[in-house]
Amino acid sequence: MNSAEKKSELEKIAAEIAACTSCKLCEQRTKTVPGAGNPDAEILFIGEGPGRDEDLQGEPFVGAAGKFLNELLASIGLKREDAFIANVVKCRPPGNRDPEPEEVETCWPFLQRQIETINPKLIATLGRHSMNRFLPGLKISEAHGNPKRRKDGRVFLPLYHPAAALYSPSQKTVHLADFAKIPAILEKIKSTPEPPPPPPEQSKLI
Ligand code: URA
Repeated sequence: MNSAEKKSELEKIAAEIAACTSCKLCEQRTKTVPGAGNPDAEILFIGEGPGRDEDLQGEPFVGAAGKFLNELLASIGLKREDAFIANVVKCRPPGNRDPEPEEVETCWPFLQRQIETINPKLIATLGRHSMNRFLPGLKISEAHGNPKRRKDGRVFLPLYHPAAALYSPSQKTVHLADFAKIPAILEKIKSTPEPPPPPPEQSKLI
């Protein structure tokens, strides 16, 4: 897919999300938060779900955690527009509770289609819930900052959720150190020959 086709497919997905009433999260949402950024991004960041500010604005990571995410991106010379930022669920769970398993399951095909469309070189998960959807069983305290290539060829980088640093400012240095690894990880991915395409059953795993 070229850039224009990717953009148009992402807009189509966003329109479907805006009309979605498949789970109860639609009842209390102000706006859906499909995700935003560069359709051709090499890196896709995936958070957990929109909070209050995101629900009001329809954009991911625009609250306090988002400000810190912007700082982290800037620390490696990236702007938000260089990356694509999305969430596992596209509507705010009331009171910022964790999304329920069936809400995640219902929303999952949207994220899957976004991943297939953008086809990023690297997927950085933000927080343990996002990580565990892709890499079940890992502990974020051990996995953060260490890239993992799955059998289907996709490379994931588990990262702490930026909100973690809001409650514990000493965490900031850990976030910064993990982000500092991203440019070299991307370079390594780009210089490694692409693995052969996975068989269809495996590509359905995400
Ligand atoms: N936290 C998330 O996981 N996603 C957002 O969009 C905002 C805060």
